[in-house]
Amino acid sequence: MNDPAIGETLVSSEDLRRRVAELGKQISEEYEGRDLFMIGVLKGAVLFLADLMRSLTISCEVDFMAVSSYGSQTDSSGVVRILKDLDAPIEGRHVLIIEDIVDSGLTLQYLMRTLAARNPASLEVCALLTKPERLRVDLSPRYLGFEIPNRFAIGYGLDHGQRYRNLDYVAALNG
Ligand code: IMP
Ligand code: MG
Repeated sequence: MNDPAIGETLVSSEDLRRRVAELGKQISEEYEGRDLFMIGVLKGAVLFLADLMRSLTISCEVDFMAVSSYGSQTDSSGVVRILKDLDAPIEGRHVLIIEDIVDSGLTLQYLMRTLAARNPASLEVCALLTKPERLRVDLSPRYLGFEIPNRFAIGYGLDHGQRYRNLDYVAALNG
């Protein structure tokens, strides 16, 4: 894509492929014999989830949630509205939330609290990216792809104004 808004590469497609395969292997080992229920957070986690589930060697169920954060465009407020909820109850299931990026962590903290109240057997997070400098809550994903610097990231599911999700690598947004 030839677009001046696409800045330097933060994570290459080769590194994404390699790390997603590693995470798939680790999750397969650790959830072996357990009833894995993966929840993809729309829309950003779609590419990550699609690649991750293909790299699993165990069976799993997949569902999606859509949430929107109240607040400004660039800063999340921690007050989250559920736009699309799960189709089925998660009580007694081993739930793994699949997120694109943990920025302040407020969205994920809200989601964790909401889902924990539904009594899953376990509840963990697998995030592709974190920005450690921005984290405002005490939360660390059990499974993590990459730490990135404090830049606005686009590509591999992540958008800016709903664009750039289809880039096959993660780039910084210019400007
Ligand atoms: P948080 O509540 O501040 O952790 O924000 C989480 C959500 O904001 C993520 O799930 C993304 O949808 C969005 N977000 C945060 N940082 C970025 C970024 O660098 N690029 C694209 N989306 C982002
Ligand atoms: Mg998101």
